[in-house]
Amino acid sequence: MQTILLTGGAGYIGSHLCLSLLKDGYQVVVLDSFINSYPNSLKKLIGLLNKKYPNCIKNLYIFEGDLRNLQVINNIFSEFYKSENYIKAVIHLAGLKYVEESVKNPLSYWETNVVGTVNLLKAMSNYDCKKLIFSSSASIYGETNKILRENDPIKPTNPYSKTKYAVEQILQDFSVQKRDWSFIILRYFNPIGAHYSGIIGDKCKGKNKNIFPTINDVALGLKNELKIFGDDWDTLDGTCIRDYIHIMDLVDGHLAALDSALNESSLFSVFNLGTGHGTSVKELIKTFEKVNRIKIPFSIAPRRDGDVSFLVADASKALIYLNWKTKYNLEDMCRDGWNWYKQNNT
Ligand SMILES: NC(=O)c1ccc[n+]([C@@H]2O[C@H](COP(=O)([O-])OP(=O)(O)OC[C@H]3O[C@@H](n4cnc5c(N)ncnc54)[C@H](O)[C@@H]3O)[C@@H](O)[C@H]2O)c1
Repeated sequence: MQTILLTGGAGYIGSHLCLSLLKDGYQVVVLDSFINSYPNSLKKLIGLLNKKYPNCIKNLYIFEGDLRNLQVINNIFSEFYKSENYIKAVIHLAGLKYVEESVKNPLSYWETNVVGTVNLLKAMSNYDCKKLIFSSSASIYGETNKILRENDPIKPTNPYSKTKYAVEQILQDFSVQKRDWSFIILRYFNPIGAHYSGIIGDKCKGKNKNIFPTINDVALGLKNELKIFGDDWDTLDGTCIRDYIHIMDLVDGHLAALDSALNESSLFSVFNLGTGHGTSVKELIKTFEKVNRIKIPFSIAPRRDGDVSFLVADASKALIYLNWKTKYNLEDMCRDGWNWYKQNNT
């Protein structure tokens, strides 16, 4: 059995990934400070495991701790070191992720996302752990009107995306020194939806202002309408286009990347994780309304600073090198996301 350290394992992506890793026979060590998640999400995950994969629960270890504290990470590695369950690879999801908040509080973004990652790399070096999968973001690409490939120009426009790109560059520099390590950077497009069980989903602290949670808030009657930021963009219906990807497809992309990292002794690769298909805000609303039979009233508000009109992945590199492609469509995302939301947000 291989042991994987999953930083940010209580968060939206982390909790779904944790489930799949355990189901696939990995031992999973979660490290999370719960700054944007709840221990209860992990309790729900354990409940779900109990029902569906009871044998896996013994392979889950949970540590509350902050990546900004190197000693915390060293202690976790040390606990598993020199046993057959030593930590073989890290999937590094922990970080702060809100663009607006990063503009208001850049230092905490640089400290958490960049210093936290540097600490992680130091601890990995201390304990001979040579495989890292890192969560990056499509937001580093900046304004464009074409489908994005991994080698397209990078132009981060806010502190959040700058920290993501800074970490990519640190990993690139570090990989030159660590020739026998495997580094895989995953640039996520727009993950939405939830596990089909309706038991785990996107349960963050405070109000999640992203578009999909907001649509769900309107559907639940917590908000009167959705504000669309601009309908005068250079797109077919004037609203912004994004590449929405089902959370469980995103999770499968990590499993494929992990498999590759574990099997290669020297690797530095970057992959887009998206569907390759663009959806406008109005199309997303229409699909949500059709699938869930709920009307979503909306109004048009001015464009927001820093928004771009079009962010869609060319995901062919992941297909070629990781043999990964998405399975779920927008209807699945809207159905599964709402199924979780309506049961967990009343
Ligand atoms: N969800 C998206 O749309 C999206 C898109 C692109 C990239 N990403 C990146 O993917 C990663 C996971 O995203 P998510 O949506 O699951 O976010 P999330 O906020 O739900 O999960 C992140 C987890 O990291 C934890 N965390 C934050 N700072 C920490 C610290 N200093 N020490 C330990 N734990 C800490 C939080 O408590 C949280 O549980 C993030 O790095 C994010 O930037 C997310």
